[in-house]
Amino acid sequence: MTAAWPRRPRLVAGNWKMHKTPAEGAALAREFVALRAADPAATKCEVAMCPPFTSLGLVAEALKGSGVHLGAQNMNAETHGAFTGEVAGTMLVASGCRFVILGHSERRHVMGETDEQVAKKLRAALRDGLTPIVCVGELLAEREADKTAEVIVRQITAAYAGLDADTAKSTVVAYEPVWAIGTGKVATPEQARDAHRVVRATLDQVVGAGVGAAVQVLYGGSVNAGNAATLFAEDDIDGGLVGGAALEAAGFWKIVAAAAARP
Ligand code: 13P
Repeated sequence: MTAAWPRRPRLVAGNWKMHKTPAEGAALAREFVALRAADPAATKCEVAMCPPFTSLGLVAEALKGSGVHLGAQNMNAETHGAFTGEVAGTMLVASGCRFVILGHSERRHVMGETDEQVAKKLRAALRDGLTPIVCVGELLAEREADKTAEVIVRQITAAYAGLDADTAKSTVVAYEPVWAIGTGKVATPEQARDAHRVVRATLDQVVGAGVGAAVQVLYGGSVNAGNAATLFAEDDIDGGLVGGAALEAAGFWKIVAAAAARP
């Protein structure tokens, strides 16, 4: 059994991917902060904005004092060194980040990131004081071959095996079926709920009993202002990891408000 919704805080994170200049990003952040500040109920949902590395500085300034968190989209597992083009977790912390997205499907399937690399980055993020958002999810062919649970079990096991329970409980998982990302094809609440239950059961099995119920599990894949409330009505869905719909303040605000409105 997994814990009911009220036991876990709600979280909506915006993954901007490779969009927005620093000035555009800061403007979006300011606009969002103003919308959120106008509604006291909004504080019921934690929010993170995850811009490209180049925008972290200006977006951090725009978010200062707002309670909206900053996150990055990737990091290198090493602390420093000759790794041209890479960014260390300590640099993200120094830039104001609280979160880092790890193992996003675009990094796994476009940049060839492996389960082993994601596992190393997860440990590095925790070492550096970041809250990792670990992404898992199946390809369309894997879903059609009835391999959704198998893929989730493999990805969660590879990332979490060997972590202690208290550390694991401080992480966030995002279930993002690859076929739903950027396609406008959203998973049904039932499909998302079932996948989230597999995530939680695997965490219990791999790390320890009770871990699955403690971890925030977000759904990602074509979340928008129109479908957010239905998805977030599921007890096992603790919020969202939002791509395209996070690039516009009013729409992103509606998604956050839908999560905040959940009893
Ligand atoms: P979309 O919301 O654009 O489908 O992207 C989801 C995603 O990949 C978030 O990380």
